Amino acid sequence: TRPIHVDILGERHPTDEITNITPSILAKLPLRLHTRPKHPLHTLRTLIESHFPTFKHHSSLSPLVSPFKNFDELSFPKDHPGRAVTDSYYVNKDLMLRTHTSAHEVEVFRQGDDRWLLTADVYRRDEIDGSHYPVFHQMEGACIFPATPEGMRHVAEDNARMRSQLAKTNIVIEDVPHVAPTNPAQAGHDPAHSALVAEHLKLSLNGMLLALFGGATPLQVRWIEAYFPFTSPSFEVEVFYRGKWLEILGSGVVRQATLDTANVPDKIGWAFGLGLERIAMILYSIPDIRLFWSEDERFLSQFKENEITTFKPYSKYPSCFKDVSFWLPQGSALHDNDFCDLVRDVAGDIVEDVKKIDSFVHPKTNRASLCYRINYRSMDRSLSNEEANEMQAQVVSRLTELGVEIR
Ligand code: PHE
Repeated sequence: TRPIHVDILGERHPTDEITNITPSILAKLPLRLHTRPKHPLHTLRTLIESHFPTFKHHSSLSPLVSPFKNFDELSFPKDHPGRAVTDSYYVNKDLMLRTHTSAHEVEVFRQGDDRWLLTADVYRRDEIDGSHYPVFHQMEGACIFPATPEGMRHVAEDNARMRSQLAKTNIVIEDVPHVAPTNPAQAGHDPAHSALVAEHLKLSLNGMLLALFGGATPLQVRWIEAYFPFTSPSFEVEVFYRGKWLEILGSGVVRQATLDTANVPDKIGWAFGLGLERIAMILYSIPDIRLFWSEDERFLSQFKENEITTFKPYSKYPSCFKDVSFWLPQGSALHDNDFCDLVRDVAGDIVEDVKKIDSFVHPKTNRASLCYRINYRSMDRSLSNEEANEMQAQVVSRLTELGVEIR
């Protein structure tokens, strides 16, 4: 029953047995929220860009990439879970929606850009709740230097300058070693160079975090050892904000394989990636991730160009909960993400969250039974019970097409 091809951004692509991209996801591709003036995602992006005045900005690369570019070029192992069809959206086996902005590292380095920022929509299959959405926006930043004594002298000087600048600010940093046995320099790197570059990364990003989160009280930042296939050493950063530690970004010293592939083998440098929605939700006090996609004037008219303001929620409309229980065909399984994509395809942004409230396997027939509770709630208007019933009926009929038996 799947169509033999799918039209995306003006081009036609063949489908195959792993195609799992849905119409509701396809509808997001042209929207490009990060390019709309006054939109919180655009303002946050602009704020970060203005913190790196010498960096080149990219924001219009196509979301369609090969799995090779999204994963292999970045040294992801063949069995990495992110490649699974349950986790990523595939147009076909050779084409997918990027799952992160790192997918463009090689091409931007190859263009000869040494310092750059890149903002883009990224796509990951996920469950449904107030802080997860299958489309979100990331910003990638990178800075590479000549791997020469002179290049390293420049990094050291830059570090000294940034260190003395940070010393005058209101920041408390919990650090980890730049390089450690548990977070090693790469085989081809002089550990001293790697440490200088990691320090440059930390100092550059501490300054950016101050610009975003700094205020009257000291800003608490902590650096944590991390792992990414395409960086080593690697770090995550958390910020203590309004009483909570928030994960802000992933980063590290770029794998030399990436730079070799990009035809800049004589460079060494760092990269980071951060999710814009998470940070914007905190800075603007936006309570639900679906709001970023709202076309409602009560949302959009609240924002000013290049200024972060506090969002004033308009009244919350009532929830409408509907349960669906069903038996799966013998020996088959249904991933939560498949169920969620089905519901999203029917109800779009009217679905607020989906919870699996029961699951068991019948001891005699060996069939699995699942029960999900769907919360239908519009952000913009009051939903009638009839409308919710209508959507629920469509969910049930789509499930029936999958061969399940409704209980
Ligand atoms: N791409 C990573 C993610 O999406 C973040 C990252 C970017 C980590 C660059 C290291 C360097 O989680």
